Amino acid sequence: MRTVIIGGKGHVGSYLVPRLVQAGHEVTCITRGQREPYIPNGAWKAVRQITLDRVAEEATGSFGARVRDLRPDLVIDMICFTLDSARQLAEALRGQVQLLLHCGTIWVHGPSMQVPTTEEQPRHPFGDYGIRKAEIESYLLREARVNGLPAVVLHPGHIVGQGWAPLNPAGHFNAQVFTRIARGEELNLPNLGQETVHHVHADDVAQAFMQAISHWSTAVGESFHVVSPQALSLRGYAEAMYAWFGQTVRLSFTPWSMWRTTVSEQEAGATWDHIAHSPNCSIAKAQRLLAYQPRYSSLQAVQESVTWLIEHGVLTI
Ligand SMILES: NC(=O)c1ccc[n+]([C@@H]2O[C@H](COP(=O)([O-])OP(=O)(O)OC[C@H]3O[C@@H](n4cnc5c(N)ncnc54)[C@H](OP(=O)(O)O)[C@@H]3O)[C@@H](O)[C@H]2O)c1
Repeated sequence: MRTVIIGGKGHVGSYLVPRLVQAGHEVTCITRGQREPYIPNGAWKAVRQITLDRVAEEATGSFGARVRDLRPDLVIDMICFTLDSARQLAEALRGQVQLLLHCGTIWVHGPSMQVPTTEEQPRHPFGDYGIRKAEIESYLLREARVNGLPAVVLHPGHIVGQGWAPLNPAGHFNAQVFTRIARGEELNLPNLGQETVHHVHADDVAQAFMQAISHWSTAVGESFHVVSPQALSLRGYAEAMYAWFGQTVRLSFTPWSMWRTTVSEQEAGATWDHIAHSPNCSIAKAQRLLAYQPRYSSLQAVQESVTWLIEHGVLTI
């Protein structure tokens, strides 16, 4: 199968592209050529690299045609963030490809209501990113159901893997939070620490993409959450990390309006984004229709990532 992946050298692509090559796909990877995959893998020698900037190509209206001219059977779109962008690609690929896999996000849901959240629940996204991703999902699924575009949308949670800092128990990305925990220092959490986060290992996201390919006949026209089996409360996450480092739990709690002044603006923004959503998503649909079976719990994924950060000197404990 000729497979084009747009944005294939990031968190997910680092795991997905080697899986595609090993499964016999002829892979072409489109990026701007600025980044290398997080994990070296010999499979990349078999990958055709195309360097182009999607944003620049879209500005001239040529991006869809550039992808179509590669004559792909399968297109995996990792980096689509606007409806216009989705439309340009879909219009160029209609009737030309067997499958279009789009990477969405669980942010298409706004605040959690009935949990675990299912894919069927009405969308109430907030924030530009979630609103735009929900518009794209709605457009692609309608195109699939009404106009025969073979599109599938996969919605990952907070992606974790080897080579970058995972979302931490304070709900932001400053890896020093893990240092504090490792040293048995006190960690202050917003509110009661009961708000939730929902991680997923990048290799489990890659697994879901592979499963969507092999289960295309049930996947087309559908969207799927791709997360670990269970979300974590911030408090539960922090307690588990103290235990993992062999430390006694030392947590304190501060109402949000005060807590936000104790961290940087960037950290407060990230934490707010996560606790305002407090995701807790169901994977029942992906298990049933794609046979998705995540290998990692949220904690296993995070602990593997933190181990990598420590072993590579990124995190000092
Ligand atoms: N990260 C998360 O926790 C998370 C959670 C939920 C959903 N998602 C979704 O995951 C997708 C992103 O996947 P990812 O995290 O694997 O990606 P990523 O790590 O951000 O990597 C992006 C890839 O796209 C390439 N790229 C970026 N801008 C480009 C452009 N203008 N033209 C061509 N290539 C470009 C980058 O390489 P160059 O820089 O070399 O171009 C890189 O290979 C998004 O759809 C996002 O909504 C992410």
